[in-house]
Amino acid sequence: MRVKDSIAKRLNELGSELRRDVSLAEKTSLGIGGVTDEVVPGPYESIPAVMHLLAEEKLAYRLLGGGTNVLIADGELPWVVLHLSHKHAGLSVEDRVVTADAAADLGGMVTFCAKRDLGGIEGLVGVPGSVGGALRMNAGAYGTQIGPHVREIELYRAASGRLETLRGSDIRFDYRHTSFAPEDVMLRVKLELPPKPYRDILADIRVCNEKRRSSQPLNQKSAGCIFKNPPGASAGRMIDELGLKGRRVGDATVSDRHANFFVNAGRATCSEMLKLMDEVRDKVRRAYGVELENEVIVWRN
Ligand code: EPU
Repeated sequence: MRVKDSIAKRLNELGSELRRDVSLAEKTSLGIGGVTDEVVPGPYESIPAVMHLLAEEKLAYRLLGGGTNVLIADGELPWVVLHLSHKHAGLSVEDRVVTADAAADLGGMVTFCAKRDLGGIEGLVGVPGSVGGALRMNAGAYGTQIGPHVREIELYRAASGRLETLRGSDIRFDYRHTSFAPEDVMLRVKLELPPKPYRDILADIRVCNEKRRSSQPLNQKSAGCIFKNPPGASAGRMIDELGLKGRRVGDATVSDRHANFFVNAGRATCSEMLKLMDEVRDKVRRAYGVELENEVIVWRN
């Protein structure tokens, strides 16, 4: 979607940068996604005014974080994307509390904390993406989820149209799901972490990295696991048991290494990936009577 010049000018006056014709394929770990204009907001205080402007002009938008858990439609997209600048990617620590901007890299935050003898989130080290995306999805791996460590979060709250600060206990963090509204914009978080010597954290990080390297296709384009695990079961194991590793629709492929990772083995499109997901979901339903739910967030046009 092309933002009109008059709106571009007003966004600019609010301190936002407008980038034209951005290819979202280049901004996602799957390497899939069409083209649209991108709004990069300036100071956090300007965000409510930016959102009001978008609403007033009836400009649809989507929030893009690290782009590591999203499958985006092909072609010209009917909405703009909002993307926080890496200029706002600060990290700081005071006592046992780390303050992280939403645009900060999640793995970078884990190692930053480790070097200051703060642990408890080692499992998240290899989860690609931003801190904001991890909060929204309650990212987790190897027994760790980010949610329980949240003490406080600053965000743009779509319901009130204002910047707000919530306590961790005000938010519901479930398995790969939170009580945030899709239009809420995560801005900054304070996490409270248990003290742990750097050496011990490093040893645990190594174990997680090794497990991940041996079971996941880390050098291929993917969005991590494509489906959530159904209660008490493993989507990856079920898909594997059905002999679907290597299954392809165009260049969208079920990974040979981990069957719940669907990889872009070349020039896969969103529709190919969706077709592959539907086919696999169908086969799992017939074989196990289980309906697989998407873990990846799908932006259709
Ligand atoms: N398995 C197979 N074949 C496969 C894949 C897995 O038999 O192709 C078996 C494994 O041998 C194991 C079981 O299934 O016995 C579970 O597999 P794994 O340990 O790889 O974990 P997972 O349940 O598939 C979850 C998360 C991952 C996270 C890992 C490690 C979900 C949907 N996935 O995977 O998160 O990294 O545990 O904690 O919850 C993600 O969210 O994108 C993601 C990759």
